[in-house]
Amino acid sequence: MTKTIKGGKKFGVIIGGSGLVGGGIDYYFKKKWGYEILAPNSKKLSIRDPKDIEEYFRDYRPDFIVNCAIASLDSDPKISFEINYLGAINLAKVAAALGIPYIFISSAAVLPEGDNLSEDDRRPLSADLGNYAKSKLMSELTLQHLKQTEGLDYTIVRLAIVYGKHDHKIQGFHRLLFSIADQSMPLLFTRKEVFHSYSNAKKVPYFIRHILENRQEFGGQAYHFVDPKPVALDRLILTIRDILQLKRPKAIYLPLPVARFGAKCLAQFLRLLAKLGIDARLPQELMFLSQFYQTQILSSEKLQRSSFVDPHPEQTVYSQLPDLIQYYLTRWEQLNLINPFNEEFFDPQLLAEEFLNKPESLLADIHSKKIEPFQTFSSEQ
Ligand SMILES: NC(=O)c1ccc[n+]([C@@H]2O[C@H](COP(=O)([O-])OP(=O)(O)OC[C@H]3O[C@@H](n4cnc5c(N)ncnc54)[C@H](OP(=O)(O)O)[C@@H]3O)[C@@H](O)[C@H]2O)c1
Repeated sequence: MTKTIKGGKKFGVIIGGSGLVGGGIDYYFKKKWGYEILAPNSKKLSIRDPKDIEEYFRDYRPDFIVNCAIASLDSDPKISFEINYLGAINLAKVAAALGIPYIFISSAAVLPEGDNLSEDDRRPLSADLGNYAKSKLMSELTLQHLKQTEGLDYTIVRLAIVYGKHDHKIQGFHRLLFSIADQSMPLLFTRKEVFHSYSNAKKVPYFIRHILENRQEFGGQAYHFVDPKPVALDRLILTIRDILQLKRPKAIYLPLPVARFGAKCLAQFLRLLAKLGIDARLPQELMFLSQFYQTQILSSEKLQRSSFVDPHPEQTVYSQLPDLIQYYLTRWEQLNLINPFNEEFFDPQLLAEEFLNKPESLLADIHSKKIEPFQTFSSEQ
């Protein structure tokens, strides 16, 4: 079956649509804006397998492809290369062959440390880059090459530290939030005056829609999609701590060499545990430890000069913190990943507690309409 535009709506394929970033894009395009979207998971279409890609796009002929897929951060070089690079480029070649736009989600990992980094400030490609950064950087460079050699219409959307709901793998910023909530961060793993850029996952779909509708302006370009103001890591950690009303982490800065030594000891300890048959892993983010100690600020000047209008300029990682904390803590508590917090704060109606301890009175309250926890559905459109 060859699927094309149905009912005049644009039809897109999103790769990585079950992830943090791709999940939001899938939701907004399909549910909010009524696009025809397919977001195959990696079992249905593994971009690691070129045959899978070929067969899939023999069946489906979309109007655009968005690639948000990424191998696990600690993947070995082979998997990183095959998914992050070969897979990304094979998709780009499909897009070039079909003559459709290809939107590639990239990362600040391709950039050096520093302030006011522009879209042209890439790190030099070298063997000692990590697998993730290397594969992203190579993808960006090959996309440029494919524009020249095969007329590819691409846009690179570079994200910094992403915040948003539905990060079910608990990575990046949400891993930081988890370590604070879990009380596994006794001190500050950073130094004073370290700033980073942040990207709001909820705004990414708006940008993607805009760049798809304005190919003339955005084709063949890279953009930093970040909040305009950078954020100090120590202040962010301490704010989360205070919102959670915790005593730790203490406002003591752990020097990088000590943090590195600690991580090394922990790695050795985990290797020992593995020999005893206990499977435990270091958080993947420890590979970025040195970045907790270095400023990396992506310039958003090009984005601001563009025709894109931020739908929620008031939103920042700080303004979203209460909502994110409520969402993740409720989720982690329910999954038994952390100890319960103050339930009044995280379950305003205390329904889960009633359900646990007084189901009869909960049912009576619901039936007598004293509380109405259900959604109201209407048959009208
Ligand atoms: N999160 C951040 O802080 C951050 C920061 C900067 C840039 N980014 C970029 O944003 C993009 C999305 O990241 P994310 O945080 O949303 O990642 P994520 O939550 O880990 O999701 C990864 C996605 O990739 C898919 N995938 C993995 N292997 C695949 C394969 N072989 N074939 C097809 N799909 C495969 C997964 O699908 P299955 O679940 O079906 O396997 C999943 O949907 C990436 O390009 C990443 O570099 C993210």
